Amino acid sequence: MYSGDRSARPISLDTLRRMKAEGEKIVSLTAYDASFAAQMDAAGVEWVLVGDSLGMVIEGYDSTLPVTLDTMIHHTRAVARGLQRGFLVADLPFGTCNTPEQAMQSAARLMQEGGARMIKLEGGALQQELVAYLTARGVPVCAHIGLQPQFVHKLGGYKVQGRSTEAASAMRREAEALVAAGADMLLLECVPATLAAEITAAVPVPVIGIGAGADVDGQVLVVYDILGISLGKRPRFSKDFLAGRGSIAEALQAYAQAVKQGAFPAAEHTF
Ligand code: KIV
Repeated sequence: MYSGDRSARPISLDTLRRMKAEGEKIVSLTAYDASFAAQMDAAGVEWVLVGDSLGMVIEGYDSTLPVTLDTMIHHTRAVARGLQRGFLVADLPFGTCNTPEQAMQSAARLMQEGGARMIKLEGGALQQELVAYLTARGVPVCAHIGLQPQFVHKLGGYKVQGRSTEAASAMRREAEALVAAGADMLLLECVPATLAAEITAAVPVPVIGIGAGADVDGQVLVVYDILGISLGKRPRFSKDFLAGRGSIAEALQAYAQAVKQGAFPAAEHTF
């Protein structure tokens, strides 16, 4: 079993860049509390995301839109207390980054009060100015492109993005523009595997995928999905790693090992 060493040096952005350069897969999951964070450290999860998915899996809303900055800070702080090694990332929730100044205030609270090391934000190419503003002021940024759940009402549902030739070209340009603006990482959600592989090869920063196939630098999933306890139907790109195993610790280790070895995602989890 692959197992993380909680006494090992904390993961930094440099570690993640080195992993991309060396072709070592980055293991990621969402976390919302201290106990799960400690379990993730022990299992070897390297990139730990306090996602605004907490609005759906913790708070029971039908989208991420109701999540507030205070709620994100509360959960980020809890995860930070349980985490010794993993790199802690927090989402900027809906409506908290409408201007560069507002984004900076929100990001500063997530870092100062929550202990986040990186901020993830949705919004795609429109966020170039904001990414440049934040990164110039010491905020590491992960730009989330592809399916962006904060846009669910505009998109009309949770759908795979970048399927047409035009949409794929636009996403390639968007990824490059965000990296040129200073994005330190990209997250690709629900994107055809071939497009995700092209973007990953084209950009110098680590790319984490969710529903984006195997040829990205790392994988993230919602932890409650891999334990089979999320409300509603588990997404096609996810897998229940607790099924057939005796404990949450074993399920997390199995997930970490499958990502490291390239065994997850398989064809059935890919678009
Ligand atoms: O909010 C979240 O958990 C996320 C993941 C789905 C990547 O953004």
